[in-house]
Parts: sequence; structure tokens; C-alpha cells
Amino acid sequence: MTELSQGTLKVAVVGTGAIAHAHAQVLALDPLADVVAVADPSPEVRDTFADRYAVAGRYDSLDALLAAETVDVVHLCTPPGLHRDQAITALRAGAHVVCEKPPVLSLADLDAVLAVAQEVGREYAVVFQQRTGTAVGHVQGLLADGTLGRPLVGVCHTLWYRKQEDYYAVPWRGKWATEGGGPLLGLGIHQLDLLAFLLGEWAEVDARAFRLDRDLETEDTSTAVIRFANDAIVSVLTTALSPRQVSYVRVDTTLGTVEVEHLYGHDARSWRLTAAPSRTGGEPDAAPAAWSLPVDDEPSGHTPLLRAVYAALRSGEPLPPVAADPHRSLELVTAIYASATLGRPVTKADLAPGSTLRDGFLHGIEDLRRATRT
Ligand SMILES: NC(=O)c1ccc[n+]([C@@H]2O[C@H](COP(=O)([O-])OP(=O)(O)OC[C@H]3O[C@@H](n4cnc5c(N)ncnc54)[C@H](O)[C@@H]3O)[C@@H](O)[C@H]2O)c1
Repeated sequence: MTELSQGTLKVAVVGTGAIAHAHAQVLALDPLADVVAVADPSPEVRDTFADRYAVAGRYDSLDALLAAETVDVVHLCTPPGLHRDQAITALRAGAHVVCEKPPVLSLADLDAVLAVAQEVGREYAVVFQQRTGTAVGHVQGLLADGTLGRPLVGVCHTLWYRKQEDYYAVPWRGKWATEGGGPLLGLGIHQLDLLAFLLGEWAEVDARAFRLDRDLETEDTSTAVIRFANDAIVSVLTTALSPRQVSYVRVDTTLGTVEVEHLYGHDARSWRLTAAPSRTGGEPDAAPAAWSLPVDDEPSGHTPLLRAVYAALRSGEPLPPVAADPHRSLELVTAIYASATLGRPVTKADLAPGSTLRDGFLHGIEDLRRATRT
């Protein structure tokens, strides 16, 4: 297949577990997207999903699906360790790919996937839905054009709760080879992605990782200080051990404070913009009218993300900012793991093409320590 189907786009969903339902529910809202096939090795999971969304094509693997069907878009909702090879297979079959986070397990793998996408003229869109919603778009614009002043310091917390007996009982989670990391890559990447969407390029990361309570190969908790290219300093705490869960991102600028507090998604009510007081200890000044959050508010989530991606696929325009630049948050995760492992700050130059760190942590941090020992 070289051209997109005229009119209705034919879609395949690969991996029909938990998050695939979010994709199917959004696709059902699009009259010009038709989920024609699914693939999952588990017959029960596959049939339950296919029955629920009335999907005719049912296969036990992506290869079997592509051998039998012609599709325009493949959604990858599979465990992270499969994303690289499945994305390349789908792209080479001529389909665009919409892939759940994390995009792949390493920056080198991301380079490989994006090179194939470019070669075959198809898109590789990654789902980082915390960037979406009208409020975040508004705040990002105010930071980007300087209306909110110059960013100085910030906080990025992913304080979530995941138990050993259920969440980490799933075999692919918490292992370097199959998840590519622990809570930092699986959970914290959402907030890091939002943070980087607000603050742009990073420059240096100084981090530590800990295994405090869960029986994982990876960390269950990590801390980091990130210096962004604009010199803003952000303190990051990511853990799977916090019973009262919260996701919190905050940026203090020369003119005020921007905060978003939520759990898995936000809308205008989750955001707070506070103007600096005119004197130390005084009440905050009234916020300028330009800071006011949009009244016509759409929450963050898969709906605005997939709508924007599909609009780009149909028009042939580049992917929108909410679905572009999958490197940035994967770089931050990689830099945090690398810094924690090596016991030193890690800069963007440390992750340059060809560096060992770009290969990620597939062989675990002990191998990485050995590989980078001087
Ligand atoms: N964006 C979000 O908010 C969000 C939330 C949850 C999960 N995720 C991501 O979505 C992905 C899937 O997570 P999940 O929680 O839905 O996992 P899950 O275990 O519930 O579902 C994964 C499904 O993939 C199937 N599968 C395994 N091997 C396969 C193969 N070779 N071909 C086709 N299907 C295969 C499994 O049988 C399972 O049904 C992960 O990358 C995860 O990080 C994203």
C-alpha cells in the first residue's frame, strides 16, 4: 500500500489489553476511521475486545494481520519491548503507526524507527497525552512567548501507587529487557513529557535511583535535578510507593507560578496561575487578563491527541506538537537512569549518537556500568 485509503481510514489495533480500549473509544468517535482488525495472542482478550467494538478481523499476531489485511494506520498498544520491531514491521507494510508510550526502550531504537518512518514516508506518532488539552496549550504558549516571564525553578512529581501483587505481577513490568525501566519510564515519563513540553530542551541531569520496597529489577523510586537549556532548574521525584497519589508539575518564573495538580489527566480546573506579589510577603498581584485559562476547556487525553494525529495523517502535514518530538522525554528518562548509574551529571552530549548510553538499559545497569567504566 502506498497511498492512504480514500475517505475512511482503515485501522488496526495491535495489543487489545487495558489501554487499547482508550484508543477504540476515541476511534469510534471518528466517522472516517474504521477499526477493521485487531491482533493479540490471547484469544479471550482479543475476542472480548473485538466483540465489544464490532471488529471483524481477528489475528494472533501483527504479521498474520498484515498478511491478510490492508490497513492505513496501526495502533500499537502492546508491551513496550515489542514496540520497536512491531513499529518497523507496520511502517514497512505502508501503515502509519500510533504507538503507546514509551515509544521504544532506547534512544537508539527510536532513531531506528524514525529512520524507517522517514524512508517509507509514514508517520510514527507516540501517545504522550499529558501534552494535550486546551489549558496546557494555553500555558505552553504563554511560556513560549515570554508572557509568563522567564522560567527559573520547578517541581515534577509522579507520586503514584503500584502494588507488587497485581501491577508488578504482570511479567513484562519492572524489567530492563521488557519494560526498559521501572516507574520512571513506565509512569514518570508522562510528567517529564509534560514538563519538557512546557520548558523545551534540557541541558543536564543529576539523578539517583533507589529500590525501597518493590521486588523489581529496576528502581521503584528516583530523584533528579534537571537543568534546562533556558537555565531553569527542576526537582523531579518519581515513585510507585505513594498511597495518596498525585501528579504535580510546577514552574516558577520571574512573573509568577504555574501549577498543574492531577492524577491521570487534567483540565482547566487542574491548573493554577499565580502572579508574583509586588513586595516580599505581600498578596499575589492580580493575574494579567492574558493569563486567563480558556473557557471552552477540553481536558487532556487520548481524544484530543488522536484527533490531532488523524488530522495530520489526512492532510499530510507534519505531526502536531502534541505528538511530535518523542525523543525529549525518552532522553530525560535515559539521562536520569544514566546519571543514577554512573554517579555523575549527564549532559545532552553524553547521549549523542553513537554513545553507549543511547543504547538504553536492555542489559541492565550492571552492564552499563561496565560498558562505561573508564
Ligand atoms: N498512555 C497511557 O496513559 C497508558 C496507560 C496504560 C498503558 N500504557 C502503555 O500501553 C502499552 C500497553 O499497556 P497495557 O497496560 O494496555 O498492557 P496490557 O498488558 O493490559 O495489554 C497488552 C496486550 O498486548 C498483548 N500482546 C502481547 N504480546 C503481543 C504481540 N506479540 N502481538 C500483539 N499483542 C500482544 C497482550 O496479550 C495484552 O493483551 C504499554 O506500552 C503501556 O506503557 C499507556
